[in-house]
Amino acid sequence: MAEIIDGKAIAGQIQEEVNREVKELEKAGVTPGLAVILVGNNPASVSYVRMKEKACKELGIVSFRYDLPADTPEEELLGLIRKLAQTPEVHGILVQLPLPDGLSQERVLEAIPPEKDVDGLHPFNVGKLLEGAPTFVPCTPAGIQELLVRSGNSPEGKHVVVMGRSNIVGKPLAALLMQKRRGANATVTVCHSRTSDLAAITRLADILVAAVGVPRFVTADMIRPGCVVIDVGVNRVEDPTVERGYRLVGDVDFDGVSQIAKAITPVPGGVGPMTIAMLMRNTVLAARRQM
Ligand SMILES: NC(=O)c1ccc[n+]([C@@H]2O[C@H](COP(=O)([O-])OP(=O)(O)OC[C@H]3O[C@@H](n4cnc5c(N)ncnc54)[C@H](OP(=O)(O)O)[C@@H]3O)[C@@H](O)[C@H]2O)c1
Repeated sequence: MAEIIDGKAIAGQIQEEVNREVKELEKAGVTPGLAVILVGNNPASVSYVRMKEKACKELGIVSFRYDLPADTPEEELLGLIRKLAQTPEVHGILVQLPLPDGLSQERVLEAIPPEKDVDGLHPFNVGKLLEGAPTFVPCTPAGIQELLVRSGNSPEGKHVVVMGRSNIVGKPLAALLMQKRRGANATVTVCHSRTSDLAAITRLADILVAAVGVPRFVTADMIRPGCVVIDVGVNRVEDPTVERGYRLVGDVDFDGVSQIAKAITPVPGGVGPMTIAMLMRNTVLAARRQM
């Protein structure tokens, strides 16, 4: 049976470190501030924004929340971002994704000044990551790297297979783990929906990261014994036996895969808490850099 990589516990360690930094910044007269903009009321997004607000509160970071209706004109959203860009108490700006139809994710992300882009998705920060001089690393990839290193499964010298090539997870994670630096130095293969004979590639992985958004997609026959499995997926599947009518499951068939993997992250309680912890860390970093 695989060792369970406890994302909640590791995120707790990082939050303690962040909390110490917040206290230090306070001594210097600075309270880190994070503005979170939610457009529309996608239930998953509402719940992510709530978790981010809660984490800010726990760590002494001021959270500024903006809830806009789904039919907000793009110019209004861009205007709010421009205003927050000029607000000294706001050190980080995050626009919760995905945006409703009709709003350009590209234009919105580009409106956030790179020095307040705590989600690390502005093209400048993405470019710096590719260049090997990361500024703000996107939170989920940064969280996955920390999970691996802190759980004793460093990616150094390992073959990491990343399933998924999104701008938020797959692509920046590949760029991060192939960096020539400690905690990285991996050989990375990226797979996607057009990959031929996917299982032949995933079976070569020392570390497999699943970020496809398909419930229980990775099955035991797709990994080799001893593989470390990171499950990024968060999927709602109907479950009439629970009050809310659905359950969250990952992209990995946990019951089967945990029989042969060396270590595995659970869903929930794996990558999710790490994403939030890294957002808090990036916010404190932004505040420090803007001092
Ligand atoms: N825990 C967290 O903090 C966190 C953060 C972000 C995302 N997530 C979750 O992670 C999952 C992925 O998110 P995302 O934003 O990266 O998703 P996304 O933008 O939908 O990208 C999914 C990727 O998976 C690939 N894919 C889809 N079906 C596939 C298949 N049958 N075989 C191989 N590849 C396949 C797609 O290939 P193509 O490019 O060819 O279409 C795409 O590259 C979702 O469940 C999301 O909710 C969790």
